[in-house]
Amino acid sequence: MKMIRSLIAGVGAYLPERVVTNHELEQRVDTSDQWIIERSGIRQRHIADDRQLTSDLAIAAARKALAAAGLSGDDLDLIVLATATPDNTFPSTATRVQAALGMTRGAAFDLQAVCSGFIYALSVADNFIKTGQARCALVIGAETFSRILDWTDRTTCVLFGDGAGAVVLRAEEGRGEVSDRGILSTHIHSDGRYYDLLKVDGGPSSGKQVGHLRMEGREVFRHAVVNLAEVVGEVLSTNGLSAQDIDWVVPHQANKRIIDGTARKLRLSSERVVVTVERHANTSAASVPLALAEAVGDGRIKPGQLVVLEAMGGGFTWGAALVRM
Ligand code: UT7
Repeated sequence: MKMIRSLIAGVGAYLPERVVTNHELEQRVDTSDQWIIERSGIRQRHIADDRQLTSDLAIAAARKALAAAGLSGDDLDLIVLATATPDNTFPSTATRVQAALGMTRGAAFDLQAVCSGFIYALSVADNFIKTGQARCALVIGAETFSRILDWTDRTTCVLFGDGAGAVVLRAEEGRGEVSDRGILSTHIHSDGRYYDLLKVDGGPSSGKQVGHLRMEGREVFRHAVVNLAEVVGEVLSTNGLSAQDIDWVVPHQANKRIIDGTARKLRLSSERVVVTVERHANTSAASVPLALAEAVGDGRIKPGQLVVLEAMGGGFTWGAALVRM
């Protein structure tokens, strides 16, 4: 039987130059460096300059991922861009990226699952490849959350940052046995009963301007650890693995305490968990590919290793993927 698998051919990331420290935020709202570090693990975040749009961040990350794969925009037949902060209501940010990369065929579209967006986008692109509808796909997570933060609300504005990450997927085809590398499984979930716990209070159909991020942090925290541990458990049982078989976990970077709590629940050593939250803060859909690109780039994640990616966000949405690099 013919089998197709999506191989990760390249990863790339981009962070805006401007770094905003917790001390800088102490000047804006009633907070402290100590509170932010103790409650979230965050020390700084990158913030896009006024002229930089989500598409600019996405294009920079995409170019690096394509270069790492030794490919160009010409080779792509699909772009799936996960974002909750598109440049405009429409057209999709993905089509702007498509044009910038010189890709004139195939399809490009946005996908919205907030912080789980990259896992959702990876799952969608993987299914396009497995069904033969695409052979070379670019999956991007890109956000400018700084634009939707209420900079007077200390309970949210200290937690987020801007950035983008991207991966290039390439189809590998075989009869019977295919290589054991590539995306081995993806798992996505949502539960809309929790819609109001993490949302932006505005948008095109609400009749209000874009709005600001609002979050019931404590409630989101409680669900995050449970849902993430559950979905990683699902990855392990689907693939007949135990936590000890996993070389690396690349979690969504929302809060160091959520990352540690999930690892503890799964009995995973913290040495095998990639953590960037202290420098990037929560970059929503960009956080997983940013962390992946960093750990691949510095040689921690090596070819052939088994990696679990996981995320949870507004909706609620959550999901995970198992990849052999
Ligand atoms: O990407 C997925 C979505 N996001 C998440 O996963 C985030 C999930 N939630 C969290 O990470 C945590 O709940 C937070 C970091 C948001 C908050 O940590 P917490 O330990 O749950 O704190 P809390 O909300 O229970 O607040 C504790 C206290 C409150 O004061 P009182 O009511 O005890 O007097 C807050 O008003 O801390 C206060 N507080 C602050 N103090 C200083 C809230 N924000 C701040 C702040 N600086 N920035």
